[in-house]
Amino acid sequence: MKRARYGGRDFRRAIAIEDLRAIAARRLPNFTFEYVEGGAEDEVALRRNRDVFERIAWLPRTLAGVGTPDLSTEILGESCHLPLVIAPTGFNGMLWPQGDLALARAAADAGIPFTLSTVSNFSLARMTAEVPRERVWFQLYPFKEPAAVDHLVDRAAQAGCRTLVVTTDVPVLGAREWDQRNYSAPMQLSLRSKLDVLAHPGWLRRVMIPRGAPEFENLSELLPAGARSALAGVRFMGTQINSRLSWEDMQRIRDRWQGQLVLKGILCVDDARRAAEMGADGIVLSNHGGRQIDSCVSGVELLPAVAAEVGERITVLVDGGFRRGSDVLKALALGADGVMIGRPTLYGLAAGGQPGVAHALGLLRTEMERTLTLLGCRSLGELGRHLVRS
Ligand SMILES: Cc1cc2nc3c(=O)[nH]c(=O)nc-3n(C[C@H](O)[C@H](O)[C@H](O)COP(=O)(O)O)c2cc1C
Repeated sequence: MKRARYGGRDFRRAIAIEDLRAIAARRLPNFTFEYVEGGAEDEVALRRNRDVFERIAWLPRTLAGVGTPDLSTEILGESCHLPLVIAPTGFNGMLWPQGDLALARAAADAGIPFTLSTVSNFSLARMTAEVPRERVWFQLYPFKEPAAVDHLVDRAAQAGCRTLVVTTDVPVLGAREWDQRNYSAPMQLSLRSKLDVLAHPGWLRRVMIPRGAPEFENLSELLPAGARSALAGVRFMGTQINSRLSWEDMQRIRDRWQGQLVLKGILCVDDARRAAEMGADGIVLSNHGGRQIDSCVSGVELLPAVAAEVGERITVLVDGGFRRGSDVLKALALGADGVMIGRPTLYGLAAGGQPGVAHALGLLRTEMERTLTLLGCRSLGELGRHLVRS
């Protein structure tokens, strides 16, 4: 039975991530909501990221006398209050003013890391001045120009960042057809999108009128002075996508970066092994939230095989489609060390800024606590393959 969802705009009344999604859909103009929501081509991978969880069933243990379970864990040597990391997402300033900062502060308050995207609207140096450094990871798009890569790697080191997440799955931008419909040229909204924006005066007042489209602050030193607008950033990105991206590029970054290195975008066991062999400290099994190659596996499906192959040597993270606390626990039971979440906290951000993000994380925490108790586990360490049938 399809049940009615919360129909208002108050994020505090959201009782599940899906409610926050509905509020975000109401508060954002369509072109921005589709940017958050959409996948590539026919969105088969996007749907698969959700469907996969329905095929994994729990085998709970009863009468286990659990009490309140412990959700804390360690990810890449740092203690975390929850087994979560906020995934890198670009252009967060379009959802809420200083959206990156709101996400990072809510993550730090919840005791988990936040990953700042290369194409964020807040510079890494400013971020590590605002939020404890161990809670700020930096995501690097490995650009075509080695000098641009070196610049960003060095900036991450100077900012005191300890964990660099290199995204490996963008040798070309995925086919995001909604973007082509919503814009008539780069950063030029179509007439239909413009009319829809006028129907969202709250968003216009909050996000757009004060400063216009937010700049990509991590790119500003790579752009000519006087040409650092969002449009200039988008054009620069277009010139920097590296269709020849290879393991040699990863090795170059490994040789330059002294901190923890995580490769994000791994989707097969052989590549996971290769990442471990080239000195990565961790990987994220990810299909980029269904936004790159369509019709591919979900990271969760690879977990048992990847964890068996490299789980003893490196940290295995996974993302894509996590919307419930029980989804997160399923991934841990199948061998993940932690889960990255993308859209759930963006829904919270669009619904209510930093408190909205905190609300999203609180919902996931409550669901994890309840499910762990129902499973008969006192802590995350007690999760394992014996508790799932897939
Ligand atoms: C709006 C949006 C922007 C994203 N931007 C980036 C990015 O800048 N860098 C990156 O590595 N991944 C990016 N991703 C992918 C996420 O890091 C993550 O892999 C994905 O969102 C996880 O799936 P989920 O949204 O279902 O949780 C983006 C995803 C979304 C939805």
